[in-house]
Amino acid sequence: MAVAPLKHFLEIGQLSEEQFWGLLFLAQALKEERTQTGRNEPILAGKALAMVFQKPSLRTRVSFEMGMQHLGGHALYLSPAEVGLGTRESAPDVARVLSGYVDGIMARVFDHNHVHELAQWGSVPVINGLSDYCHPCQALADLMTIWEQLGRLTGVTLAYVGDGANNVATSLLAAAGKVGMVVRIVSPVGYQPAPEVIDATDADATVTDDLDAVVGADVIYTDVWTSMGQEAQKEQRVADLAAYQLNEGLVARTRNDNTLVMHCLPAHRGEEIIDSVADGTQSVLFPQAHNRLHAQKAILAHLLGKAPLPERND
Ligand code: CP
Ligand code: NVA
Repeated sequence: MAVAPLKHFLEIGQLSEEQFWGLLFLAQALKEERTQTGRNEPILAGKALAMVFQKPSLRTRVSFEMGMQHLGGHALYLSPAEVGLGTRESAPDVARVLSGYVDGIMARVFDHNHVHELAQWGSVPVINGLSDYCHPCQALADLMTIWEQLGRLTGVTLAYVGDGANNVATSLLAAAGKVGMVVRIVSPVGYQPAPEVIDATDADATVTDDLDAVVGADVIYTDVWTSMGQEAQKEQRVADLAAYQLNEGLVARTRNDNTLVMHCLPAHRGEEIIDSVADGTQSVLFPQAHNRLHAQKAILAHLLGKAPLPERND
């Protein structure tokens, strides 16, 4: 049976396992096509994507823009200074206006409700390019990277160390549940995921403040301690999370010489991760960042170009 199409890409939890795997397969196929032939079929010719940013970005902005270009379409960058989503103009109004100009909207927002409002009021697909609640595009690219590096996802153990309550951790937990990964969130009290985030995932997930939970991990992952919008709390957060730095001692504590080191970037080097680990032999930080391009293309090809989601055949 064909995999049901998605209308939007707002939260990993809204996808079925088949839809999540379908996006992974599509991303892999588009990457292979580009690697082998130097190009992708222009399946988005004549299509445009509006990219609404309330926060800064390198990877998300550039990978969506290049993804649209590779697929023959056009991307329009709207900076935080321009749209004023929810301040200059309400999300329902922005959604209805943009729907008359473009074929899809990607939005990076503070308030997660805004991506839902854009989807509810607009008539074109909406993609969450990061909200305070979650970062689903990142998790898709991350699992693509783990799959490429380890050749499997089901049964892989990922230890996430640091701010386990943030958007990246939330989406990793949700994504892990779609593919049968094991997740250990290793964070001090006050930085652990909300119980509803754990309840919502099908992943084999544990939450602890004990760094020994990294023992045996196939992947050790961290993200900044101070996310965008939390800058006023930086001093407190750095003090609270200091023991959870991804350094050589913590990598060694996995007792696995092949543990992959991952970080969504940007990194605050010297805080949550140190240079020798970020740039060490076990680091996959840059392949991980590069896979954002291929994962983005899968989302765009499916939502804007109606590319079907491949079925799993195992
Ligand atoms: N990882 C990530 O989303 O990076 P940007 O904030 O630079 O887009
Ligand atoms: N947790 C980080 C992720 C950046 C890609 C933030 O929200 O700033």
